[in-house]
Amino acid sequence: MENEIRNAVSQFESLLRQQLQRQERMEQNAAAKDFANMETITVGLIDGDGIGPIIMEQAKRVLEKLVADEIKDGRVVLKQIDGLTIENRLALGKAVPDEVLAAIKTCDVLLKGPTTTPKGGTMESANVTLRRELDLYANVRPVAVPEEGIDWIFFRENTEGEYALGSKGVELPGKLTMDFKVTTDAGTRRIAKMAFDYARANGKTNVAIVTKANIMKKTDGMFSRIAHEVAAEYPEITADDWYIDIMTANLVNPAVRNKFQVFLLPNLYGDIITDEAAQIQGGVGTAGSANIGGQYAMFEAIHGSAPRKIEAGEGDYANPASILKAAELMLRHIAMTEKADRLAAALSVCMETERRVVVTGHQDGATCRAFTDYLLEKL
Ligand code: IPM
Ligand code: MG
Repeated sequence: MENEIRNAVSQFESLLRQQLQRQERMEQNAAAKDFANMETITVGLIDGDGIGPIIMEQAKRVLEKLVADEIKDGRVVLKQIDGLTIENRLALGKAVPDEVLAAIKTCDVLLKGPTTTPKGGTMESANVTLRRELDLYANVRPVAVPEEGIDWIFFRENTEGEYALGSKGVELPGKLTMDFKVTTDAGTRRIAKMAFDYARANGKTNVAIVTKANIMKKTDGMFSRIAHEVAAEYPEITADDWYIDIMTANLVNPAVRNKFQVFLLPNLYGDIITDEAAQIQGGVGTAGSANIGGQYAMFEAIHGSAPRKIEAGEGDYANPASILKAAELMLRHIAMTEKADRLAAALSVCMETERRVVVTGHQDGATCRAFTDYLLEKL
């Protein structure tokens, strides 16, 4: 056991040094891309696995119609990126194979279908790898239920917390296991700044900072403290501290939930609560997700690859709404606001006001393709 302890301690030391280097790199970050003034925007399209290729096929049809003119005149290049499948990743033993990552790095933004993550083992989730490799530090997820006055937006830190080192834990075989959670100064400051900038630019008056700082004293304690330091630069916006447990209760409490506006959270809490929020909106199939960094941004459905749906032979009945919402967020991010608004309006007609073709996720509902045909008519 002495040997194992020594190995674990030296592994911990190297993690600590790597994370310190990451924090130092963050302090000297380059300026963010200005999409409004870019000549060419390359959009990478990644199918993923499970229901990924099915919903992505429909998302491509929608994009090809919305940006047809820009594709023709070369302002937008759609670039298919293959090879991010579970079979290929397992065969190569890589969460994101090198050639796939190289192809991804030639793009500016990505629209990505869900990718399967094997449980256990050491293979990292492709999402976690991409978020780290492309430094996509903000996970932004809007959720709205207009008839209830709910208009939420979540700013989830996307590169730290339990996730950064989630496949780097230590083990004393047969005795115990230990994972690590990391929060950095620069990493917290940049996500907090994005949340407050958003609040300011969109006339929001409150940001809820959600942690478990009473228990995770170092990491969440730091997150909360820095979030308040950033908040001090936005005197017109109030910042409240909440604990994640009571916040999950608040979201299912109709008497209080529509008072919340902007949420700022560390990675794991953000992961969990955004699924809850999406469910309140109508299901995880209805929410889109933006992973944003200074140089790259990746847009995806909030849900996974749904292997059970494929096994049940119901893949074609998957709901494309989530990936279409992601496409809307992507268009907004690259400053194509009018196109994003058109897509949002069509989605709202098809899913809320008219609902002539309804996807249930099962054979009693419409197929993914039939819903998209309907949406294309409304665009
Ligand atoms: C999400 C997903 C991912 C996460 C998985 C697929 C790694 O649940 O985007 O919320 O946990 O972040
Ligand atoms: Mg999740």
